Amino acid sequence: MSRVKFALLLLFTTSLAEEQDGKIACNSITPKTVVLRVTKGTSDYIDYYGILASFGTDVGGKPGNPITLAAAKPPLACSPVEKVEGGSIVAHRGNCTFLQKDIEVQGAGGEQLIVVNTDEDVFTPSCSDDEPITAKVTLPLPAVIMVSNSTGWKILEAAAEHGTVDVFAPVNPRFDGSLLLMWLVAVATVAGGAFWGAYDTKQLIRRSTDTQENCEMAPAEDFLDVVHINETAAALFVVVASTMLLLLFVFMSKYTDYLILVHPEALSS
Ligand SMILES: *[C@@H]1O[C@H](CO)[C@@H](O)[C@H](O)[C@H]1NC(C)=O
Ligand SMILES: *[C@@H]1O[C@H](CO)[C@@H](O)[C@H](O)[C@H]1NC(C)=O
Repeated sequence: MSRVKFALLLLFTTSLAEEQDGKIACNSITPKTVVLRVTKGTSDYIDYYGILASFGTDVGGKPGNPITLAAAKPPLACSPVEKVEGGSIVAHRGNCTFLQKDIEVQGAGGEQLIVVNTDEDVFTPSCSDDEPITAKVTLPLPAVIMVSNSTGWKILEAAAEHGTVDVFAPVNPRFDGSLLLMWLVAVATVAGGAFWGAYDTKQLIRRSTDTQENCEMAPAEDFLDVVHINETAAALFVVVASTMLLLLFVFMSKYTDYLILVHPEALSS
C-alpha cells in the first residue's frame, strides 16, 4: 500500500510545485505532448505535434481557442520583439535561453511562444532557477511549445498567411479500458499458470504413486519441484503482480507519447 501512495505522491508533486512568491518556477509544468491545430486561409486544419515547456502557462485539454500566428521579428527573439496583438509568436531556437525568448514574447504582447528547433528532434524546453531576470515580467509567462524544424517551417508558412493555431494537450481518460484488459490478462495468466501447474503436479503425483505401489520407486516429492505456498501468499502474489503491471502501464504511458514523438510530423500528413 505504501508503495502505491509513494508512487501517487511522485506523480503529483510536480504539478503541486506551482509558481510561488512571484518567482518563475522552472519546473512547474509536467512535460507533455501537445497538438498544434493550424489553419491557414480557408482550408481545413492540419494537426502538428510539439512538446510543452516545463515553465510558462499550461495549455487546456480541448481545442477551441485558436489564436493568430506571427513570425518573431527578430526571428531568434533574443532581443525586443516587434509588437503583436495577442497571438502566438513563432521564433527559432538558438542564441539565448528559452526563458529569455518567452520574456521577449510577453514584452511584445504575445500569448504564446512556438520554438522551432534546429533539427528534427523535440524535447522539453526548460529554464534554470538561477537564471538572472533583467526584464519586468508578469506571471504566468506565455506558454512555450517546441516543434521540430520541419513542423516549424510549415507553421511559419501559415503565419505568413495570417493563419491561426489552436494548442491543446489531449487528456488521457481517467479510466482507460485497456487498464482493465491488462489487469484481466495478468490475472488470467497467473491463474491459468497456477491451475495448469496444479493439474500437472497432480498427474505426476498420481503416476508416481502408481509406480511406487508397483515398483517401489522414490516418493513423488523427491523428483518434483514442489513449492509449498498457502492461499494468502498466492493471493498476495496475484495482487502485487497486478499492481506492478498497472503501475508500469500508468507511468509508462505518460512518457511513451513523448518517446514515440521524436519525429512527430511523421504522424501528421
Ligand atoms: C547570436 O549571438 C552571436 C554571439 O553572441 C552574435 O554574434 C550573433 O549576431 C547572434 N545572432 C543573431 C541572429 O542575433
Ligand atoms: C529546416 O527545415 C527547412 C525547411 O524544410 C530546411 O530548408 C532547412 O534546411 C532545415 N534545417 C535543418 C537544420 O534541418
